[in-house]
Amino acid sequence: CGIVGYVGLRETPGRELYALDYVLEGLRRLEYRGYDSAGVAVVADGAVDCRKKAGKVSSLDAELAANPLPDAVLGIGHTRWATHGGPTDVNAHPHVIDHGRLAVVHNGIIENFAELKNELTGKGYTFESETDTEVAGTLVADYYNKDAGRDLTEAVRLASQRLEGAFTLLAIHADHPDRIVAARYNSPLVIGLGKDENFLGSDVSGFIQHTKQAVEMDNNQIVTITATDYSIIDFDGNPVSGKPFEVTWDAAAAEKGGFNSFMEKEIHDQPSAVHDTLLGRLDETGHLTLDELRIDESLLRSVDKIVVIACGTAAYAGHVARYAIEHWCRIPTEVELAHEFRYRDPIVNEKTLVVALSQSGETMDTLMAIRHAREQGAKVIAICNTNGSSIPRESDANLYTHAGPEIAVASTKAFLAQITAAYLLGLYLAQLRGNMFADEIGEVLSELQAMPEKIQTVIDGADEIKAMGTEMGDTESVLFLGRHVGFPVALEGALKLKEIAYIHAEGFAAGELKHGPIALIEPGQKVFVVVPSPRGRNALHSKVVSNIQEIRARGAETIVIAEEGDEAVAPYANHVISVPASPTLLQPLLATVPLQIFACAMAEAKGYDVDQPRNLAKSVTVE
Ligand code: G6P
Repeated sequence: CGIVGYVGLRETPGRELYALDYVLEGLRRLEYRGYDSAGVAVVADGAVDCRKKAGKVSSLDAELAANPLPDAVLGIGHTRWATHGGPTDVNAHPHVIDHGRLAVVHNGIIENFAELKNELTGKGYTFESETDTEVAGTLVADYYNKDAGRDLTEAVRLASQRLEGAFTLLAIHADHPDRIVAARYNSPLVIGLGKDENFLGSDVSGFIQHTKQAVEMDNNQIVTITATDYSIIDFDGNPVSGKPFEVTWDAAAAEKGGFNSFMEKEIHDQPSAVHDTLLGRLDETGHLTLDELRIDESLLRSVDKIVVIACGTAAYAGHVARYAIEHWCRIPTEVELAHEFRYRDPIVNEKTLVVALSQSGETMDTLMAIRHAREQGAKVIAICNTNGSSIPRESDANLYTHAGPEIAVASTKAFLAQITAAYLLGLYLAQLRGNMFADEIGEVLSELQAMPEKIQTVIDGADEIKAMGTEMGDTESVLFLGRHVGFPVALEGALKLKEIAYIHAEGFAAGELKHGPIALIEPGQKVFVVVPSPRGRNALHSKVVSNIQEIRARGAETIVIAEEGDEAVAPYANHVISVPASPTLLQPLLATVPLQIFACAMAEAKGYDVDQPRNLAKSVTVE
């Protein structure tokens, strides 16, 4: 979910106070975090007033046009990804409680909500919605009117001590038209500082167009903001100071910049995402310097196992990482979905290095997995795209990707940046542990540095693949095959189609096809095949070419992603999409791009919202 809070005295011609405009603007920018419903609340004229609607922020806009809210200096807003309770108007946030005096918005899940609901029902409270949020808000109201002596911060603090699970909770009250109180526990929240105005947001995109001065909070903390001030306390009531930081993202980076969709724009951002992720990590002699890792080198030398954990697209980047790290470092490397890793009692210890990949840095499944790994003594390195987010904060060391803000729900540039960072980490470990000679490492690094330009070539030559995506709008099923690093590329190609074009798509290891899935092939079945480089008498290449023949013989329509000049594939391909030559291990940076473009074109042709696909959210902060 996305959460916004604004308190401010900014004057604007024609209107005295318009907190609501800032809240709505923030919501639109955070909408990628969830869009099942949206709502806002303000305190004005001694009362709380709220509007909320199932659907996207645009439905809320329509509601506000029909039923405007009064001008106010403060407001809170929420855009929801439904967990407890369906995506209805009633279940939308904010929840207004205490006879219309208090409003709350919430992100996360209150795990003990049933127990608290019983307790509160016993005290005579009734509930309108099915949500855990209304229970949390009612608890705040109960404390407010009793133990907290009508101090909103104290009421939120007392309630927070009772809530289990994960939450970011914002509260406003009719008695306090100048402040928003917010609690943070296992769920994201940042403070933005302006002149005579202050902001709260699930992440900085909620306010970067107004200020780059931000403050990071820890878990178990409560902040109270007014237009001119902010103060933070912990759940025990002790004052604490937040960690100020300056946002390096440019506000324009979070805008579409002339493209039809954020996804299209982000696909085009990929050369710079890879370039920027490589930037500053090589010294003049071409030597890898990952100073920022700040992790004991002797520890990295003694590691005897690496476990890569992530979810979704990041997990496919993790698969690519595994091939590279094992090959270069000769360290046994596993890759696992974070939620599976967490609950299967995995064998990890002080000699295990866990590498956690996450664009947002807030994926709860991944966060829980790294906590578990650290409890077992493992060291965790996070590869993350969001500064100051939870996963890097809770890791032993970080290697940031520099993809810039990724807004479209379906990940593209973050994927390429994650793979790039994973290569750097693999090469760094190989350098440190003496698994590769300096010139071998140098060779890979110079190949990597050539990648942004090659990615650009793929993007520039994408007309054919784009046209195919558009024409294949009525296709019901597409299969993707790959071997070695081409396998995760195939999985990612299939995921993109499922996510945004809503068609059945599946990725297979090409060698596995004959063990079952080949039964799916019937005349006309569309199959993408990712073919590795033919150079250096690559045995992999000929195996994949045989796999293409097998499916062609059964009538499949084959769309082959192959290195330019690869003559061997042409006889068996209905379409060949060429990508520039590269070492096989690095090929995912190129081969993924046409698959992204294909999915984007198909979803657009089908008239779907490419950036905000149904049922999904970009940052899933619940387990
Ligand atoms: C969600 C998104 C996916 C994303 C995954 C992991 O499910 O819809 O696009 O790949 O989370 O996100 P992360 O931020 O951890 O990379």
